[in-house]
Amino acid sequence: MRTKAGLGETARAIVADAKGILAADETVSTITKRLTARGIESTADSRRAYRELLFSTPGIAGFIGGVILQDETIHQDSADGIPLANLLVRRGIIPGIKVDAGVRPLAGAPGESVTEGLDGLRERLEQYRELGARFAKWRAVFVIRDGRPSATCIHANAHALARYAALCQEQGLVPIVEPEVLMEGAHALERCEDVTGRVLQAVFTELFVARVALEGMLLKPNMITAGHGSARQASVEEVAEATLRVLTRHVPPAVPGIVFLSGGQDAALATEHLNAINALEGPKPWTLSFSFGRALQDEALEAWRGQREQVPAAQRAFLHRAWCDSAAVLGSYSAAMEGEAGIAPADSTLHTHH
Ligand code: 13P
Repeated sequence: MRTKAGLGETARAIVADAKGILAADETVSTITKRLTARGIESTADSRRAYRELLFSTPGIAGFIGGVILQDETIHQDSADGIPLANLLVRRGIIPGIKVDAGVRPLAGAPGESVTEGLDGLRERLEQYRELGARFAKWRAVFVIRDGRPSATCIHANAHALARYAALCQEQGLVPIVEPEVLMEGAHALERCEDVTGRVLQAVFTELFVARVALEGMLLKPNMITAGHGSARQASVEEVAEATLRVLTRHVPPAVPGIVFLSGGQDAALATEHLNAINALEGPKPWTLSFSFGRALQDEALEAWRGQREQVPAAQRAFLHRAWCDSAAVLGSYSAAMEGEAGIAPADSTLHTHH
């Protein structure tokens, strides 16, 4: 199997130098919920202003190597008329794009879903590449309940992820393969470990059958935690050990990077978990980094509140969290950093327009 020229290079560049990914690919409906929860009206322009605030944060390119955009955003321009994808490229950040069409009920598997969006995907990938995207994302979702996820659900989603990944590589885009086992439920950590292991094994089997070059992709999994509703939450150390154990068992070393989703974890806890995983002894053949949505954005969104004069405060909050998460990639994060302002490397390409 050959890796299409450049794909491995792009995959490695996204996570080089302890950088991670900002997932800013919330659909219009999801970002609208997050904005209105903070009293911010959701319009195409307020969504543009919010994303531009994040992307133009001074110093952020030191900690963020890639940003996942969503269809509306990749078509939008900054206040200065620069396409937002180009604004990222100018700052040395690689733009990516969410390409799945969301989850639908899976026939034959009551209460479970399959991610759709394969129809016409080749043509959409071609268009997104022209708009500047260099990687893509597709998210499959698994819920833990009695008897779930079913083998039917695991197989259908793993197969779709593999077909998506193969199409991405054909079109010269690095696929981010995201099988997310949700944190909702009252299950123990051991159950999450078992389910995630089965899901990852099925995903890599399908990727192999679909002839996906593992060197030219990134995996975006959940960490291994107890369910949100569980009375016994696992310690940071337990989460780290279980997460590394599952990845060691089920993810081939040819995969250059594993970028965790945050999945609704508190921002600082997600940082602590990532740090503990990277601080563990033992072989870690992949770069272990982050592709956080909420855990990178929540504090910034809280600080912004849709107010122009709060933009610098929101950018400081975002920079601080990204700095902490990047330190966690090195295993050098400490709780003391929470009180520090963080490093803001001089960034001459900086633009803040509001
Ligand atoms: P969270 O980090 O908020 O889970 O979002 C990451 C993501 O992209 C989910 O698809």
